[in-house]
Amino acid sequence: MPDFPAGFRWGVSTSAYQIEGATTVDGRGPSIWDTFAREPGRIVDGSTGDEACDHYHRHAEDTALLAGLGVSAYRFSIAWPRVQPTGAGPAHAAGLDFYDRLVDGLLAAGVDPVATLFHWDLPQALEDAGGWLNRDTAARFAEYADLTAARLGDRVKLWITLNEPFIHMSLGHGIGTHAPGRMLLFDAFPVAHHQLLGHGLAVAALRARTASPVAIANNYSPVRQVGDTDADRAAAQAYDALHNRLFTDPLLGRGYPDAPGLDPAVIHDGDLDVLAAPIDVLGVNYYNPTGIRAPEEGSPLPFEMVPLDGYPRTAFDWPVAPDGLRELLLQLHDRYGDALPPIQVTESGCAYDDVPDAQGRVDDPERIAYLDGHVRAVHEAITAGVPVTGYFVWSLLDNWEWAEGFTKRFGLVHVDYPTQRRTPKSSYAWFRDLVRR
Ligand code: BGC
Repeated sequence: MPDFPAGFRWGVSTSAYQIEGATTVDGRGPSIWDTFAREPGRIVDGSTGDEACDHYHRHAEDTALLAGLGVSAYRFSIAWPRVQPTGAGPAHAAGLDFYDRLVDGLLAAGVDPVATLFHWDLPQALEDAGGWLNRDTAARFAEYADLTAARLGDRVKLWITLNEPFIHMSLGHGIGTHAPGRMLLFDAFPVAHHQLLGHGLAVAALRARTASPVAIANNYSPVRQVGDTDADRAAAQAYDALHNRLFTDPLLGRGYPDAPGLDPAVIHDGDLDVLAAPIDVLGVNYYNPTGIRAPEEGSPLPFEMVPLDGYPRTAFDWPVAPDGLRELLLQLHDRYGDALPPIQVTESGCAYDDVPDAQGRVDDPERIAYLDGHVRAVHEAITAGVPVTGYFVWSLLDNWEWAEGFTKRFGLVHVDYPTQRRTPKSSYAWFRDLVRR
């Protein structure tokens, strides 16, 4: 493995609903994922995040795993319904106390706390008032950011406003496979704009409370055009605008791209200035490229997704394409030039069906190969001049993978859910050695 620049941030990521459990403890309010997971047929194994990895009660053990890994940073998310059980009103002290303990434990272990404010677990009460379709949710989000930063702003080392607003819009509100389960297709655009507006308002709220840098974590997928007709080209451009540009062009001061579904009536005067508030870091979550060709006649979508041949595949059936990460980082650099802040890869990882052997060891050579390839891709991008300053593995622990329930394992650490026993996999040792070097 080649050398990385001094000060490069190595970390791992998780999110609240996927690991914490304790969903009714210490006054936490219900979130849209509590509701969605209870609806029949939504989650493949019928599970919920009620217990997940029981991290709420085991955070000290998990912090010790981070210390053993030697990472310099840990990206976790804060559950809005712990801080404001109904999404409005004063901070709920018992909810913030948990994150206070977590943050202090991380600092004592020499690990920088990196906090994401919204990783999809909207308080149910806000959803009942229209959720992200309602412009007021943006203002509520800024209020929640303010309350959280008032308590933790002196110790969190990097703030991330939103996690993957594109996925929350498209899966949660476009096709309904994630909470809140709406199927609006392109009528979901207000969810994009109101999340970005909430981001911009939250940046201002955070700046008033903390000197720490502020970021957003976007999901990107380089488009592989399949076919070579004008219609294929138009389809590839439409998908690229939706997935890769809709949530980045306006942030970096370019306004919205010409993307399917964009409704100018949702954008009020002055909004574009609010959401283009300067950020210090762009978080990049990358898993795989997307194959796109022209849609069949009569399709409701302006593109069709096609499986990409010729790649190894993860247990999610996602293609393993580290070159896509290099391509994406170079594309961001080319596209935005000087407007691009330093990048940190805030998620990169893979699911495999990891099973402990007779001695209880979990050997996961595919994950090591996956991470090795992606870390090298980052290095190549840095060598080519892209300012990348960090890399976070998704994920520290096997955890509750949204609509896939407990059936997909992404962790460097295996979790036996019935006993909650944690077993570091061979990829944990590999990553520890890499970080050490
Ligand atoms: C999300 C994570 C998720 C991971 C793997 C990302 O889209 O931020 O919460 O577990 O992908 O699907």
